[in-house]
Amino acid sequence: MSADLICFESACRTRYPITEVIYNCPRCGGLLEVTGPEPSESAAGLKRIWRERRMSNAPLDQSGVWRYREMLPFLPDPADVITLREGNTPLLDAPFAARYGGLQRLTFKHQGFNPTGSFKDNGMTCGATQARRLGMKRVACVSTGNTSASMAAYASAGGLQPIIFIPHGNISYGKLAQALEYGAKTFQVEANFDQILKLVRVLAEELGIYLLNSINPFRIEGQKTILVEMMDQLDWNPPDWIVVPGGNLGNVSAFGKALREMVQLGLISRIPRLAVIQAAGSAPFHEFMQHPSRDSFRPVEHPETLATAIKIGDPVSWPKAWQEVVASSGIVEKVTEQEIADAKAAVGLCGIGCEPASAATLAGIRKLTGAGAIEGTSNVVAVLTGNVLKDPDYIYKYHTGQLTGPEGTPLLGAFGNQPIVVCNDPQKIATMLV
Ligand code: F0G
Repeated sequence: MSADLICFESACRTRYPITEVIYNCPRCGGLLEVTGPEPSESAAGLKRIWRERRMSNAPLDQSGVWRYREMLPFLPDPADVITLREGNTPLLDAPFAARYGGLQRLTFKHQGFNPTGSFKDNGMTCGATQARRLGMKRVACVSTGNTSASMAAYASAGGLQPIIFIPHGNISYGKLAQALEYGAKTFQVEANFDQILKLVRVLAEELGIYLLNSINPFRIEGQKTILVEMMDQLDWNPPDWIVVPGGNLGNVSAFGKALREMVQLGLISRIPRLAVIQAAGSAPFHEFMQHPSRDSFRPVEHPETLATAIKIGDPVSWPKAWQEVVASSGIVEKVTEQEIADAKAAVGLCGIGCEPASAATLAGIRKLTGAGAIEGTSNVVAVLTGNVLKDPDYIYKYHTGQLTGPEGTPLLGAFGNQPIVVCNDPQKIATMLV
């Protein structure tokens, strides 16, 4: 059996060759996923091979994505693989954040340690590689910033032309700067993420450009390895909870698929519960999950949040995310701008740091332990999706008391840390340090 694209909808399940350039099922419009033969090795054999590869200098083995290639059933000719040695991100203990979140212990899986500083690299190495396998010359995406930074890097590394579309004035400079530096043709569109996604889909089809948004199922496959690597680092002992921010809902879809496949292969014995956290002003999935049914999903028309990475009102992957939250007995929560801002500073005080969207995880944990939905003794891993330096403007404003919410309401910095301007006088400075 070879790898195929297959319609995600249980009533359809039509298969297509993986060499077809499609992003939705041509028959029913459903989302697509990649399916392929199960690895022939036993679970113990896989665990041993994956550990051994950590000692290897071969590029595919050094990648924290392709090291786990038995979980990626579509491995192309290795010469086509575009890798920047993505993945390999640490698990970090964070005692201060644990206390802040109402837990005895909390571990962060920090995807901000990736080559372009976000979890997008795990998926992009697969998506960009697939573009090359298909003989595509140009790739495109709409992005709240991280996808575009990642796509620009991987496309340029692989000799493809990156074309990105971003909501004008609504992404952080750190991310825009990366896209420009990595050579992307960059369009700042006067529209929001959801509107631009529709535009890019039309353009991609008309111009034969390969689309690398998370609707692309090869990206989802790559993002699965975030959890495979996490379980490997935990010696295959799953935690009780895995907490992740929710925007376009690609990540939670990938995580759920990875967990189900790992249980099926006997790599882990049970599925941890997934907690998805959204920003209150951009929380259509949270709203939907209050009374979910096939036709009750309502987009948020004007999504708002300073956590611009997750400022998305019409997430494409909600059907997959729904399945995965249910399959893991998971939960969806929403948090306010103030809660995100303070949780972010708390992650910083651990010496770890992250971008605003990532901090939604800790804000969500605090809320869920407060409500008794997560027990304080639970073993929790939160995924920090982006690096602290992605959005320095937000940080400076928070610490200097200048951060205001989307409606102009001031956000108070509970952990504010003002820089102090001083004259060049050692005596004076010394008196300030006693
Ligand atoms: N955290 C960060 C830092 C992100 O950049 C994103 C998404 C998310 C969380 C949400 O992940 O979409 O899989 O639910 N950023 C996308 C982008 C949309 O264009 O960079 P999701």
